Parts: sequence; structure tokens; C-alpha cells
Amino acid sequence: MSKISAGRTLMRSFSSSSKRQAKVAVLGASGGIGQPMSLLIKQSPLVSHLSLYDIAHTPGVAADLSHINTGAVVTGHMGPDQLHACLDKCDVVVIPAGVPRKPGMTRDDLFNTNASIVRDLAAACAKVCPKAMICIISNPVNSTVPIASEVFKKHNVYDPKRIFGVTTLDVVRANAFIAEAKGLDPVEVNVPVVGGHSGITIVPLISQCKPSVTFDADKLDAMTKRIQEAGTEVVKAKAGAGSATLSMAFAGARFTFSLLNAMKGKSGVIECAFVKSTETEASYFSTPLHLGPNGLEKNLGLGKLSSYEKDLVEKAIPELKNNIKKGEDFAHKS
Ligand SMILES: NC(=O)c1ccc[n+]([C@@H]2O[C@H](COP(=O)([O-])OP(=O)(O)OC[C@H]3O[C@@H](n4cnc5c(N)ncnc54)[C@H](O)[C@@H]3O)[C@@H](O)[C@H]2O)c1
Repeated sequence: MSKISAGRTLMRSFSSSSKRQAKVAVLGASGGIGQPMSLLIKQSPLVSHLSLYDIAHTPGVAADLSHINTGAVVTGHMGPDQLHACLDKCDVVVIPAGVPRKPGMTRDDLFNTNASIVRDLAAACAKVCPKAMICIISNPVNSTVPIASEVFKKHNVYDPKRIFGVTTLDVVRANAFIAEAKGLDPVEVNVPVVGGHSGITIVPLISQCKPSVTFDADKLDAMTKRIQEAGTEVVKAKAGAGSATLSMAFAGARFTFSLLNAMKGKSGVIECAFVKSTETEASYFSTPLHLGPNGLEKNLGLGKLSSYEKDLVEKAIPELKNNIKKGEDFAHKS
């Protein structure tokens, strides 16, 4: 190779690698999830710009994070007037904005407050960064994902491969609990969790756990219920101070990094997420997804289910359908 062509090759690979670094926005960045998740994202070499939006405290959070000596530039944006600047040229938008549960509340009890927050943030994304990957953490995920999808449809920019409900925390919890019960290394355990993200709609597929594990019927039932109710375990332990924030920050960052790696061309990236789906009768459903440069590359479906798991999926579907309809109706009316 001549010196000139070697130089050109080098320039090309530099410019394409810098292009592959991403602008990531966190909407709800000052909250219990938003702050630690932003801290984790700030450490990633995959991110060139971390753009933080909230209705309160973003200048402080951004100033604080900007003093960390990693490559991502941090900008803070506060209030609706600054939302468009936050989203401009974004590749990935992660949304943990909204109120969390207090003891005694279901995720659906959050609908009245969080539905309009997600609707308005999704509308801004549809206008400013319609091609960005949208990762929704705000509950109830079973309804907020359909809301965001309807908003994107209204703006004629809907791509079902780019809107994800983040259910990674259910997988993280299932991995942790099963590793604990079986004395395994939690990092090596992988349990797909399908369905939705609330109570009985959370369906861990323990028969597909890697490495393979078995439980007696009563222990399997207890483990499944613990995974389904793990969020409530945290809500109760926090006694009114909110819901899972640190484990959710970890899970949200894990999903974001998987997406960024897949967008950059890494092969074999698989995560479960709540997406538009034809795998069951419910029009949105979480299953393992093969992620790629354009988001959802291939839905890997449910795989082989045990009869216990088939029953759980069947029980989940009516509630999921109601949650989805509630979100879609809200988006159509408003
Ligand atoms: N998907 C999951 O697995 C999962 C897990 C835990 C919590 N959650 C959900 O995540 C959400 C956030 O939880 P949290 O503990 O961080 O709550 P939090 O109250 O600590 O933080 C929420 C943040 O959102 C901000 N916010 C409110 N309205 C906004 C708006 N219109 N635009 C931008 N920001 C706005 C608030 O100012 C606050 O900083 C809740 O809905 C909670 O239920 C989801």
C-alpha cells in the first residue's frame, strides 16, 4: 500500500469510528434512575455526547458529570424550551421521566401522571430525532410504549424497530435470584424474561436458563413469583422513598450499551425488550431480540416453553391487551 493510500485508509477509519460514537439523551436525567444511569453512560467509550434533560436540576447534574475525565461531552437542558436542543441529532434517547411507585401502588396507578409525560417527550423525539432509538423506562411500560408508538404514528415517522420498552431489569433480577439459589456466578446466568413489565405479565422462562437449572414445582413457582414481584420488594424496602433506581440504572445502561454496540455493527447482540410484536395475541410483547444497526433486527420469539410457562403466558395476555389498549386510547384521545 502506498503512503498516500495508507494515509487515506487511516483517515477513513478514524472518521468512521468517530461517526460511530453516539449522542445519547437521558430524559428525566435528574431523577433516582436518571442520575446513576447517566453516570454509567458517561463512562462509555461508545458515547461522544451525553445530553441530559429534566424539568429540574439538570444544570447541576450536568456540571457534576462533566468533571469526570471520560470522552463524552455532557450538556444539561432544563425545561421544555431546551428539550429540542437536548434531542438534536440524537442517536439514542433513554426515558426514565415520571413518578415512581409508593408502597401499595401498582405500576398502572402511575398511568395518569406518566402517560402525558411520555406522550409529550415522544412528540418532541418524533419532531427532532425521528430516527433515534427510543428506550422507555417510565412506567407503566406496558402502556407507555404503545403511547409513544401512537405519537410517532401521528407524526408519520413510526418505525416499530426503534421503540423499546426497557424490561432489562426483569432479566437482571432473574439472573441474580437464580444464581443466588443455585450457587452460580450471577454474571454467567442468562434467563430470558418475556411478556410485559408488571406483575403477572412478567414471565421468566426458567426452562431456557443458561446454564440449565431445575427447581421442584413449588420452588419454581416461588422463584417465578419473586421475579414478578421483585419491584414491589424494593418499593416496600424503600418505604415511600421510591422504587428501584440503582439496579434500574444498571439495567438501563446495559440495554443502552447493547443497542449502541449493535448499532455500531457488533453481531450477536441479544436483549429482551417490550416491542411491537406478532409473537402472541398481544400486539406488544417482550421476547429476546437480535439487535442490529437499525434497532430490532430479528425477533427471536418465545422458543420452547414448558407447560408451566405456557400457562403463565396465557394468563399474561388479557392484562397485557388491556394495558396496551389503555395506552393507545389515551394517545388517540389526546
Ligand atoms: N422499566 C423499569 O424496569 C423501571 C424500573 C424502575 C422504575 N421505573 C420507572 O421509572 C420512572 C422514574 O423513576 P425514578 O425512581 O427515577 O423517579 P424520580 O421521581 O426519582 O425521577 C423522575 C424524574 O423525572 C423528572 N420529570 C418529571 N416530569 C418530567 C418531564 N415532563 N420531563 C422530563 N423529566 C421529567 C423529574 O423531575 C425527576 O427528576 C418511574 O415511572 C418508575 O416507575 C421503571
